[in-house]
Formats: sequence, structure tokens, C-alpha cells
Amino acid sequence: MIKNTLLRAIQAGSNELTRYFNGKFTINSKATINDLVTEADHAAEKAIFKVIQENHPDHFILSEETGALPTKSDIKWIIDPIDGTINFANGIPLCCVSIGVEEKGEMIMGAVYNPFMNELFFAEKGMGSTLNDKPIKVSEKDNLMTSCLVTGFPYQYLDTENGPLTVFEKLIRKSIPVRRLGSAALDLCWTAAGRFDGFYEHKLQAWDSAAGYLIVLEAGGQVTDLKGDQYNPYQPGILATNGKIHTQLLALLQGGSL
Ligand code: IPD
Ligand code: CA
Ligand code: CA
Repeated sequence: MIKNTLLRAIQAGSNELTRYFNGKFTINSKATINDLVTEADHAAEKAIFKVIQENHPDHFILSEETGALPTKSDIKWIIDPIDGTINFANGIPLCCVSIGVEEKGEMIMGAVYNPFMNELFFAEKGMGSTLNDKPIKVSEKDNLMTSCLVTGFPYQYLDTENGPLTVFEKLIRKSIPVRRLGSAALDLCWTAAGRFDGFYEHKLQAWDSAAGYLIVLEAGGQVTDLKGDQYNPYQPGILATNGKIHTQLLALLQGGSL
């Protein structure tokens, strides 16, 4: 039942992305000038809410543009109506809808759909991860020096010790490829699918990572915070890898050198 609602909600949301993409839509800034929200974000959110609320009116919803709609339910839907809004607003088809489902504080299901590549990533706790219904696995690479990584940068630069540019510089100086797709949810899913060997980011919100981190775990990967502790989507830092390069990349994120 939950899976059915999740898949219908993600489809309803992504229909709005395809409807508005490359068309005319309003764009507004949020906390900073380039932290954008478009008409399509609101439309996708509305379409997703409709499906969830029709099927589970008592469930808790946490969604980027609306915030929390708390209830006493053990089930919480964590929604990013468009992850990769800057890409979306610029006609770059690297964006998606991301929905995670949490039960009693534990992520039990997640789906991420990029309608422009027709790629649906899905995971259910204990059941593995799939891309368009086919099982996916993380990569096998065990050497950070030959890994292909991905990261993202916050809208407002984070000037902290071992911050985003410090880590990025260390990797780039060693000629390690680090991509920047502009969608944390896709970064996680592409790591789950073995396209990337690892992803890290210093400051995410729960809706960016809720679905994607379960998809990495269920694809055999490892996900921690930047201290190396068990990942919790309600704190900012994330390191998601194939497991084999996790310790090497964590050491670097904690101030180590290559
Ligand atoms: C952003 C994307 C981006 C990440 C930012 C997020 P949004 O989400 O996931 O890759 O670097 O930290 O805020 O604003 O496109 O939903
Ligand atoms: Ca996001
Ligand atoms: Ca968003």
C-alpha cells in the first residue's frame, strides 16, 4: 500500500516537472539569491501531497517548500519536490523528485525519479535497490586515487575547517575526478548504481538525502555522517560510498591528506 502510494506520488510530482520544463514559470529566491523555488516546485509538491493525503490522510509529511505537517502517525513522508532546482530552472535535465518514507524514525522506503532520463531508483529496507526495476549495486573500486567522486556545495558557502573547498582542492590537486551534478538525490542514486564510487556533502537537509541514502545502503554501500557515525538525515554532513573507499575518504574529510 505504501509502495503503491509512493510510486503514484512520485509520478504525479514528476508530471509537473515535465509539464513546466523549458517552459514559462515563475522563479523566486529563498534564503539567498540563488536558492531558488519555481512554480514547478510548488506544483509538484501539491500533486505529491494530493496522492499521499488521499491515501493516508493521517500520515506526517515533511516537505521542502511547505515544511512539516505533523500528525501522531508513525509514518513520515520526506519530500523534495524538485531536487536540482537550479538545474531545472536552467533547462538542465539533471533533476528529480525524491520521496523517502520513515517509520518510527527509521527509513523504510525511498524513491527518486528523474523523468528526463526516465530513471526510477527505488529501495525498500532489506529488499535491495533497483533502477527501473532492475537490481543495482555499488561499485567495486577500492582505491580512492582512481575513484570517480561527486559532491555538492551549499547555497551559502560554509566557511568551516575542512569545508567544501578545502576537501575539493585536496582531491583536485591529486587529479581525482570530482563531479558536481547539482542534485544530491541523484548523486546518491548514481553512487548506488556504481556510476560514482563516493559522494560527500557538508550541508544537506533531510529531504535531499532521505530516499537516496536508503538507496545507497540497499545497493550495498555505506553511508555515515562526517564523523563516521551512523547516518542521520536530520544533521548536515553525509558521506556515501561503495564501502571500499569509505575510510580513505572519511580521513580526508576529517583533515587528512592524500
Ligand atoms: C540542492 C541540491 C544540490 C545540493 C544542495 C541542495 P535543491 O537541493 O541537492 O545538489 O548541493 O545542497 O540544497 O535546492 O535543488 O532542492
Ligand atoms: Ca534538495
Ligand atoms: Ca528542492
